[in-house]
Amino acid sequence: MRIEGKEYRTIWFENNVVKIIDQTKLPHQFVIKELKTVKDAINAIKVMEVRGAPLIGGTAAYGLALAVQENNDSEFIKKSAKELIQSRPTAINLKWAVDRMIKKLTGINSNQLLNVALNEAKEICDEDEKFCENIGVNGLKVIEEIYNKKKDTVNILTHCNAGWLATINWGTATSPIYHAHKKGIPVHVWVDETRPRNQGANLTSYELNEEEIPNTIIADNTGGILMQRGEVDMCIVGTDRTLSNGDVCNKIGTYLKALAAYDNNVPFYVALPSSTIDWDIKDAKDIPIEERNSEELSHVEGIDENNEIKKVLIYPTKSKAMNLAFDVTPAKYVTGLITERGISEASSNGLKQLFKK
Ligand code: MRU
Repeated sequence: MRIEGKEYRTIWFENNVVKIIDQTKLPHQFVIKELKTVKDAINAIKVMEVRGAPLIGGTAAYGLALAVQENNDSEFIKKSAKELIQSRPTAINLKWAVDRMIKKLTGINSNQLLNVALNEAKEICDEDEKFCENIGVNGLKVIEEIYNKKKDTVNILTHCNAGWLATINWGTATSPIYHAHKKGIPVHVWVDETRPRNQGANLTSYELNEEEIPNTIIADNTGGILMQRGEVDMCIVGTDRTLSNGDVCNKIGTYLKALAAYDNNVPFYVALPSSTIDWDIKDAKDIPIEERNSEELSHVEGIDENNEIKKVLIYPTKSKAMNLAFDVTPAKYVTGLITERGISEASSNGLKQLFKK
């Protein structure tokens, strides 16, 4: 998608380095950062220079290719794979991508390893782009249906950033929105700010602005009253891990939005590529929920009058704070799962029908 009119993907390999858009600097500064080693990739995932489940997966894949480039000894590659998987716990795409890379590299001659690793990392990213595009084509039908009934702007609420910046391109939750906009359907997006890291305000609103899609940032607690007032036609969110029974783990606050949507008969859709499905864990209680540094809550960042990024404390100095990064929305509150293969019911049967293999 576009930044200042120029097309970008979120990650690419060029001149022996991996290039990313440093998302900790957005929306105030646009900085392309180079990752030269697997340690750089691990750090980028940990400090959230890259974030969003599919992009974390893509970065882990390229991170492993960087490991091979540094040292193609199998012990080093195995250790790097383990460290990459541990860099963030909740998004299943991370382990999925590393496992896929390891499987591909197993049995390959050492003089071929780097080529194979780079090709597979690119393949993982290309596939994600294609899947996200298909999610858009499938989700477009839901937006079109609402528009055909309403004959007026479709108001869509989203939480966090499940946009193209969270994937390789298109996004998951935003892909149907981009497709609708390209088709001329008037859409307006309610963007949850998404405390504490403000991915909605800093990233979703930013990328929608760049594509000239009308959007309004709201405080995280505003969605409920908007739904009561009939000002939300549908919600679409992304997910970091969806269980085979349709339970959806996503950015903290998603569950409360789903409850409000359920109470107000607002359709609540979750958009995801199949790489975000966890076919192993059966009980949502077993999903590892990331707890991040409480400084993300107690401090906020912005630019001052000299355009310099500044961080300030907003809490009482003696207060404790707790920063759980994700929650789980039970399948019963989810209207449908928008995937690359079509839209399924959020249930074992629904997912089985789409993903028989
Ligand atoms: O902590 P983040 O910013 O990595 O969390 C991102 C989300 O929760 C997204 O909704 C999810 O990864 C889906 S991205 C297409």
